[in-house]
Amino acid sequence: MNFENWLLWTSFVVSFALGQRNQDVELPLITNGDIPLVAKLDTTILDRNIKDYVNVLQRRTNGSENFYRNWSDYKDGFGDLEGEFWLGNIKIHEITNKDEYELYIQLEDFDGQKRYARYQTFFVGDPASKYVLSIGDFSGDAGDAMSSHNGKTFATKDRDTSSHSCAKIHKGGWWYGICHDANLNGLYLRGTHSAPANGINWYHWRGHRYSLKKTQMMLRRRR
Ligand SMILES: *[C@@H]1O[C@H](CO)[C@@H](O)[C@H](O)[C@H]1NC(C)=O
Ligand SMILES: *[C@@H]1O[C@H](CO)[C@@H](O)[C@H](O)[C@H]1NC(C)=O
Repeated sequence: MNFENWLLWTSFVVSFALGQRNQDVELPLITNGDIPLVAKLDTTILDRNIKDYVNVLQRRTNGSENFYRNWSDYKDGFGDLEGEFWLGNIKIHEITNKDEYELYIQLEDFDGQKRYARYQTFFVGDPASKYVLSIGDFSGDAGDAMSSHNGKTFATKDRDTSSHSCAKIHKGGWWYGICHDANLNGLYLRGTHSAPANGINWYHWRGHRYSLKKTQMMLRRRR
């Protein structure tokens, strides 16, 4: 490579990296009528002031984090709060146990299309219940891929409460039934994939063989 080409290549790489970073830091927000969305990330999440914030439970942006993890990792949470992460089942339980919350899910595919799903009922049970999911009252334009997960317990590869090896087959930690319509903690497979339903799938929008680019699950206190 001669110097000129090297220079071109370097500036391309740098601008690409910067562009990527800007996109990642500022995940595009979807405004939806009466819900003013402020994806404010509160790291003092168990503080009493939590009531006033929208809290992010989960985020996927670029595949940098491994989400195929065990029970204790999903319990405690993992990842980078400014990038990809899972907040932790115990925290999600404690938050949703304190007050009534709704769940707001943002999705983005690799064509830049965005969708949302809002659930006005969202509650995660205690460890003894295996973090059983209560979810309902859907609205949004993504299709309702979560209601079929209502009443399901959490499952990971080392503690598959689904009794169908769902966590191992679909490569995530989730409230699997037999097995899923949504797999937001699946593998980061970047768009169309052949292996069935082990990507970041949202069945009612892009199906079981398309892995989404970005997801964000957020909590908001019910008004
Ligand atoms: C769970 O995985 C983590 C690494 O992600 C590891 O440090 C830990 O020992 C594992 N726990 C169990 C109970 O397997
Ligand atoms: C993914 O995004 C995070 C947070 O913006 C960043 O720190 C990390 O370097 C990115 N990783 C890749 C592989 O792009």
